[in-house]
Amino acid sequence: MANKDLRAWIDEIEAAGELTRISGAEREKEIGGIVDLLMRKMTNPAVLFDAVPGFDANYRVLANILCSTPRVNLAVGLPAEAPPIDLVQYWRRYMADPPLVAPKPVNGGPVLENLAEGEAVNLEKFPTPRWHELDGGYYIGTAAMVVMKDPDSDWINCGIYRVQSHDARTASVMISSGKQGGMILKKYHERGEPCPVAVVAGMHPAFFMIAGTEMPHGKSEFEYAGGILGEAIEVINGPTTGLPIPADAEIAFEGLIHPGDTVLEGPLGEWTGYYAGGANQEPAIRVTTLMHRNDPILVGAIPAVPPNDNTFFRGFSRSGMVWSQLEAAGIPEVKGVWTHEAGGGRMWLTVAIRQMYPGHSKQAGFIASQCHAGAYANRWVIVVDDDIDPANMNDVVWAMCTRCDPREGVDVLNGCWSTRLDPMAYGEDDPRNSRVVVDACIPYRRKASFPVMARSSPELDAEIRAKWGKDLPPGA
Ligand SMILES: Cc1cc2nc3c(=O)[nH]c(=O)nc-3n(C[C@H](O)[C@H](O)[C@H](O)COP(=O)(O)O)c2cc1C
Repeated sequence: MANKDLRAWIDEIEAAGELTRISGAEREKEIGGIVDLLMRKMTNPAVLFDAVPGFDANYRVLANILCSTPRVNLAVGLPAEAPPIDLVQYWRRYMADPPLVAPKPVNGGPVLENLAEGEAVNLEKFPTPRWHELDGGYYIGTAAMVVMKDPDSDWINCGIYRVQSHDARTASVMISSGKQGGMILKKYHERGEPCPVAVVAGMHPAFFMIAGTEMPHGKSEFEYAGGILGEAIEVINGPTTGLPIPADAEIAFEGLIHPGDTVLEGPLGEWTGYYAGGANQEPAIRVTTLMHRNDPILVGAIPAVPPNDNTFFRGFSRSGMVWSQLEAAGIPEVKGVWTHEAGGGRMWLTVAIRQMYPGHSKQAGFIASQCHAGAYANRWVIVVDDDIDPANMNDVVWAMCTRCDPREGVDVLNGCWSTRLDPMAYGEDDPRNSRVVVDACIPYRRKASFPVMARSSPELDAEIRAKWGKDLPPGA
């Protein structure tokens, strides 16, 4: 039986009232302009474009994919209406004990309905939008999974790295330093060999979420995606690279990245909300094979001023993963983790703990800011007590204002892992940054003597709700 594919998820979100369709928008400004407006409000639907002027009317573009909690819920198999904390707990459980399922090689699949090789390859047949007005070109990969094989082992790595299409047979990929795909690429080039690569530009969002999240070194994202879907991912072997490609992918292409072969890439409006990266020489993909389904759907996850489609879903998974990694590092009594959506799911991280000993909060903050899931491009880590809801910014700001003594409670860490997309990275050739760990917990030595909170007790809340609930607004 075929896997749950992108089209099955589209049907599910449409049934949940989470999809709109637009015909006839053009690709230079209108598709990107519509998506930008939709992304600003987290209750807006995903959008499926067709009849893009100048292109086959049945070639489609799907965007604003995971910008709502119900759509992320449906992507991982939770009920559409599950609250955000269920998603954090889902990822926490998932990462603590991922139910890995090995992919299943198959001989054919819908992705091979249309196959072109060599000079017949034409990346320009798709209505790839210019996503923002100031972008330097057309990005076929904003939600695309880049597949590579480690030359020293059987490890297949997948990452979401932005992919620009330059002409009929040339694309490029921009991989930030420290990423696993970049390390694999370097290994091939140090041996003077080209790196085979496959790019998958439309697939079930489970792949997108897994490939866009830091998975452990040496592990294959295909197995993790299989774990989310609860079934073995059917893969074909790419005709020229042999790399695995989901058999029901919408669009995929393969090619080689030769040592020293670069093209001018960018700029692209990025997930931090800026054009900080500019245009640079980046690795060129010389495309050897292009395959796609009939009536293909190009998927976009557009970076922009956060919250945006590039980062919204990551708030849940990153919160769950940082939570697991704190526990794995031996931090006791972690009660909640939240990455705020306006920080692009990375730059702002709040950790709630039940303080057990002096120095506990500092330890939690430092580890959160440096563990694998939390380190990249972070700027603020805030540690709060467990009476503070880390997802409630009013509570968090109140704790920062009333429980933090900046003499001891604020630490600046320098020389940390970031990216040149970070507008406050050290410089063009130095993508490191500085960040702050704020201890906004009641000082441990003052726990017994700290002023009592001027808020009703949980017991009084319950009494009032029982007697007066009918006179109060819903949710009060
Ligand atoms: C929508 C989206 C776009 C991304 N774009 C890039 C990118 O252009 N370059 C990059 O290095 N990482 C990008 N990332 C982050 C990586 O996908 C993420 O760090 C992933 O873990 C990388 O895989 P790796 O750990 O196997 O290297 C993006 C993530 C998402 C979700």
